[in-house]
Amino acid sequence: MHVRFLTIRNFRNYAKCRIEFSDKINVIVGNNGTGKTNILEAISVVSNIKSFRGVPDTAMIKWGEAAYHCRIDAYNDGETVFEVGCAAGEGKTSKKVKIDGVSIDMFSEYIGKFPTVVFSPADVLIISDSPDIRRRYFDSILSRTSAVYYRTLVEFRKVLTARNKTLKMCKARGKVDTHELSAWDTVFARCASQLIEARGRFLEIYNPLFKESYARISDDDIAPSIEYIPSARGNDPEAIIEHLGTVSGRDFLYGTTTIGPQRDDFAFKGERGALFNNYASQGQKRTAAIALKCAEGIYIDRLTGSRAVIMVDDVFSELDEKRRRNLLSMLDRGNQVVFTMVYPERMDFGSLSSCAFYSTDGEGTVRTL
Ligand SMILES: Nc1ncnc2c1ncn2[C@@H]1O[C@H](COP(=O)(O)OP(=O)(O)OP(=O)(O)O)[C@@H](O)[C@H]1O
Ligand SMILES: [Mg+2]
Repeated sequence: MHVRFLTIRNFRNYAKCRIEFSDKINVIVGNNGTGKTNILEAISVVSNIKSFRGVPDTAMIKWGEAAYHCRIDAYNDGETVFEVGCAAGEGKTSKKVKIDGVSIDMFSEYIGKFPTVVFSPADVLIISDSPDIRRRYFDSILSRTSAVYYRTLVEFRKVLTARNKTLKMCKARGKVDTHELSAWDTVFARCASQLIEARGRFLEIYNPLFKESYARISDDDIAPSIEYIPSARGNDPEAIIEHLGTVSGRDFLYGTTTIGPQRDDFAFKGERGALFNNYASQGQKRTAAIALKCAEGIYIDRLTGSRAVIMVDDVFSELDEKRRRNLLSMLDRGNQVVFTMVYPERMDFGSLSSCAFYSTDGEGTVRTL
């Protein structure tokens, strides 16, 4: 799938803007703070109904305005129009999504229809930061490639919130209500079991893609492996219920559920089992972060049968010459790619299939060069 037109209204520094993209390589050039990443963000909002920057919707509404609207005329065998609109009201925001002019009430029926992958300098946090960032990252890939996973995750989060609320109430009363807790445990264990199994199956496919991408970018530096570390013992519902029973005292003490998919981690480990984060250089961590995204693109393409739009937000400036060249050639595999950069002259675009160049001026206009 590729973006033919992006039309945005009152989004970040853009009052009204329409860009026509090439179906191959697109390069957005401009000084710092002129609105390059904002364009990628608008595309990511249409894809995922939220920003890849992890900011609230209100941050993306142009200052002084009440609502934003983003529309993509996409092409994949035929034309499909995707729209996301968001209005800020008294204390809450409302969002609407449409495909070909028809409103979609269930977001699970929209997510994944227009797949994208964003490379960002902040990706290194997936390697080096806390487990919740890794969980969120892998959950997001799984949710975009499986509507069943997405729905199970939504249901799991609801039951987790309810179970934790019950635990807090029990703590306040100073007495465990095992009856009330066990009512949640059945649904909790069923959802948890499905999520744990799906995460395990996912890594079997994704891990080799990640390792291969890492080796290609770095010219055969040894890639780390990603190991899934579930916090629950066993992955069938009965085993999870039993484990919940054995930790109920601790759950009661902390007023929260201490085992389950919300506590799992994914560890990056080197050849002898050493934690990648403890021995890798800054450049190796960046390489791993980029390899994650390359693998994500290949994984999404495989599972959805549609080619994801690849967005690369200024990650080249942090790579050495060899890695820049390798990444560029890896990205040129038929998907539409949108790059942002400050210094295009440092890149060798000559080796790529045709490139279109655009410039941002900070005044809310984008010119085709
Ligand atoms: N809600 C908003 N309304 C209006 N302008 C905004 C809003 N949010 C951010 N901006 C403006 O957008 C600009 C930042 O845009 P963006 O992050 O796309 O820059 P960039 O070109 O990617 O810069 P860099 O090269 O530094 O990454 C800033 O000038 C900021 O003032
Ligand atoms: Mg930027």
